[in-house]
Amino acid sequence: MDTQRFVLPMNGENISVVIGDNVTGHINDEVGRYDTLVFMISRRVEELFGPKIPPLEDYGSSTIKITLNDGESLKTLRNYQRIIKVLVEKKVSRNSLLVYVGGGTVGDLAGFVAATYKRGIRMIAVPTTLLAQVDSSIGGKNGIDFSDVKNVIGTFYNPYLIIDDLEFLKSTQEIIREGMGEVIKYSIIAGGDMFKKVSETSLSNFIEHSADIVKMSIKIKADIVNRDYYDRNGIRSVLNLGHTIAHGIEGASKGQISHGRSVATGMMVEAHIGEKYGNTKPDVIEHIMRLADNYGIERVRISDIGVNNIVRYVSNDKKMAEGYINMPVPAEVGNVITMKVTERMISDGLNTFIREHERK
Ligand SMILES: NC(=O)c1ccc[n+]([C@@H]2O[C@H](COP(=O)([O-])OP(=O)(O)OC[C@H]3O[C@@H](n4cnc5c(N)ncnc54)[C@H](O)[C@@H]3O)[C@@H](O)[C@H]2O)c1
Repeated sequence: MDTQRFVLPMNGENISVVIGDNVTGHINDEVGRYDTLVFMISRRVEELFGPKIPPLEDYGSSTIKITLNDGESLKTLRNYQRIIKVLVEKKVSRNSLLVYVGGGTVGDLAGFVAATYKRGIRMIAVPTTLLAQVDSSIGGKNGIDFSDVKNVIGTFYNPYLIIDDLEFLKSTQEIIREGMGEVIKYSIIAGGDMFKKVSETSLSNFIEHSADIVKMSIKIKADIVNRDYYDRNGIRSVLNLGHTIAHGIEGASKGQISHGRSVATGMMVEAHIGEKYGNTKPDVIEHIMRLADNYGIERVRISDIGVNNIVRYVSNDKKMAEGYINMPVPAEVGNVITMKVTERMISDGLNTFIREHERK
């Protein structure tokens, strides 16, 4: 597969993106210009892919390697402090480069370190999960969790180079399924060629089409982000499609249900809510279900988690000011609108989902 290279405009800056097989070697072209290379890598990724990540000796002696146990528990103030302490002790200068290799959790912590250490050092992202390639590495958001609140401390900061090595996606199908919730979301938001591409592909031939799917996803997200970089005018919130209900499912199931399944099911429930109020075309739910099936994403059994439990998490999460929340809802493929929804409308949507898809 040919390597794809393009420049992604992001909030007035240009990010270079490289997508292809075995492209991590591009890091070598960059390091010579910096005093120190700070290399933050997921322990799991290193175990799985060690030999394909360019050996650190290639970068000379001024390399600091930090190996991380990834997962949500990585994103703490304590881990942030530990890393900053290492950089201070090793007298890392501002003219240094941080390279991260890992999923979204490594990327969120690394981005926060790069953005804040000495008010910002340059960063290269090497995202290794599909979710990180199509979502978390794009859009500048980084951060850590604090006091049980996710991503409550963070900044906006971009890498100048993103290397999406598709070899990383060949490890497990789970890595693909987890990210496909977001990819299906992009296909419903954008419609057109993206919807066609995602519809014509499935889990079994995903790898063959991964370069195009990753590239198209990145461009769709970047296009939306660029119209509302700081998340202030409501445009960026379209990217929350599926996530209002997904956060309720994830919270109520105590994290037992994966993000990909939660987002896909969340979009279906949100489409039911839209349909009931005449905002969503009836074929939208079928499209989402078909795409989820094609990628082996199992629907969540809402009745097992409990409608009331999910509603409680949604209303706590979103702080239903004035009795409603603004929720993105698919009107049709290629058109997402925002609806004001109440707790009652959410529980009705969840009950409709149970009636139509769990009791048949
Ligand atoms: N900053 C943003 O805009 C943004 C957007 C979406 C999500 N996020 C964040 O991203 C995080 C989730 O990202 P994630 O799903 O990548 O989680 P993750 O980083 O925890 O990775 C998931 C698991 O996959 C493993 N892994 C990584 N690469 C692998 C590979 N190639 N093969 C096999 N296993 C591999 C990891 O070790 C980990 O166990 C959350 O913390 C979320 O808040 C951030």
